[in-house]
Amino acid sequence: MQSEKMKPLIFVIFGASGDLARRKLVPAVYDLFKCGLLPDNFALLGVSRSALSDDDFRDKAFLENDLHSIEGESETHKKAFAEKLFYQPIDTNVEADYAKVADRVKALDQQFSTEGNVIFYLSTPPVLYDKIPRFLAAHGLNDATEGYRRLVIEKPFGYDLATAQSLNKSLKEHFPEEEIYRIDHYLGKETVQNLLVTRFSNGVFEPLWNRNYIHHIEITSAETLGVGNRGGYYDTSGALRDMLQNHLMQIVAHVAMEPPISPTADSIRSEKAKLFQSLRPITADQVAQYSIRGQYMASEMGGKMVNGYREEEGVPDDSKTETFAAIKFFIDNWRWANVPFYIRTGKRMPTKVTEIAITFKKPPHHLFNHADSYVQSHNQLVIRIQPDEGLLLKFGMKVPGQGFKVKNVGMDFHYSDLSEGNVPEAYERLLLDCMKGDATLYAHGDSVEASWRFVEPILNGWKNDPSIPVYGYPAGTWGPLAANEMVEPSDLTWRNPCRELTQDTNYCKL
Ligand code: BG6
Repeated sequence: MQSEKMKPLIFVIFGASGDLARRKLVPAVYDLFKCGLLPDNFALLGVSRSALSDDDFRDKAFLENDLHSIEGESETHKKAFAEKLFYQPIDTNVEADYAKVADRVKALDQQFSTEGNVIFYLSTPPVLYDKIPRFLAAHGLNDATEGYRRLVIEKPFGYDLATAQSLNKSLKEHFPEEEIYRIDHYLGKETVQNLLVTRFSNGVFEPLWNRNYIHHIEITSAETLGVGNRGGYYDTSGALRDMLQNHLMQIVAHVAMEPPISPTADSIRSEKAKLFQSLRPITADQVAQYSIRGQYMASEMGGKMVNGYREEEGVPDDSKTETFAAIKFFIDNWRWANVPFYIRTGKRMPTKVTEIAITFKKPPHHLFNHADSYVQSHNQLVIRIQPDEGLLLKFGMKVPGQGFKVKNVGMDFHYSDLSEGNVPEAYERLLLDCMKGDATLYAHGDSVEASWRFVEPILNGWKNDPSIPVYGYPAGTWGPLAANEMVEPSDLTWRNPCRELTQDTNYCKL
């Protein structure tokens, strides 16, 4: 769909008193308001169970929000924004209660002249993803005859392929696919969007972006934090579902898809869909060979002892849920035939970083003896998603002096050098796009299902085959040693990045 100019609207948040709404959503809408990006005719309606008045909600979600301070903001802005916030308590499990939402939406539509345009944002536990759209429909709230009616949902989009399919089916009974916005906050990150610009607005990279020049591709997404107080949720999810199936597979799509014919939602979605169709399935008997799972164990990190995963609140003592997952796979198409892709993600790793490292093939004929090891005679392009966002190209240069001693050097670009004002937060960008009707940065139902189809054999293997080990790894390390052995040939290994883009020693500043 083409992006449209922003029309007046009501933005309804289900789960409005929850953490996500207070930490991310209301602050993002406020930032849009402050930057003059919202239409004058705008209202935000919070909906959830807590018995709050409009004023209570204004305080809890905005003025006195303990999860996102607005200290130092202009009083005029704060007051003007607060006046656009409203609240409706309902029991979200009870269909009849949605009549209250319908009345409130109608009244706000008249008060703010919002021309019938409404976005419903589901920031609720996933058990409600089936009910809320159904109950909205029962009260005619999906009726788009006057203005648009849009639905935004947060991950998880299902728990496996079957639940994802049934969720898509039930959502599509009440809202058309083009009005369903599945939010993946990684797609809102500037650097993930920049992947498309890096690839498709430069003549220099794309000719090399294929099996003829690329040896392998790695994607690492590491976090230093453990599961904190989310143990209950996390134990039913694990790293594969929590990070890999969604965020990292979307990054894979951006790195590997063919050039879209235009930068529109439809073209990009169809390229992604083709890419997902080309993933070589990992069969049940290959799971042990192509995947590694691990769980962090108590250890010292940054001079402090931290709990092991099984000691975290809400986690059973015998949990086998992975906090680290690494997989190897191939993409069976013309561009990527036989190029291995390696992806890993984990909690309690040495530093918080997400990056893509593209390792190029070595020159065909070796003229010079490399001073560095084999791995360093490969050129490498590192695309840093976060932090120290930027790009690093590593290549060989002659060391001044006698003979031809070659040394590895880096050429780097840092996003911080582009001082072109405020870089919007992921949610800010995504909400703005949704309000404008631009779904380019949202996940399509088909690609969500395709990604589940791909990871499902791994999930099944891990669940059903007791011979596949869950390796323990000490908190603060790069995960199980076995994961290093995945990368081939055996003298290559993962790039273990530091906070700073240009460093990859084993001794980083945390
Ligand atoms: C979320 C996961 O989707 O992404 C979390 O549920 C994870 O477990 C988070 O910590 C990471 O996001 P970011 O933007 O901090 O890399």
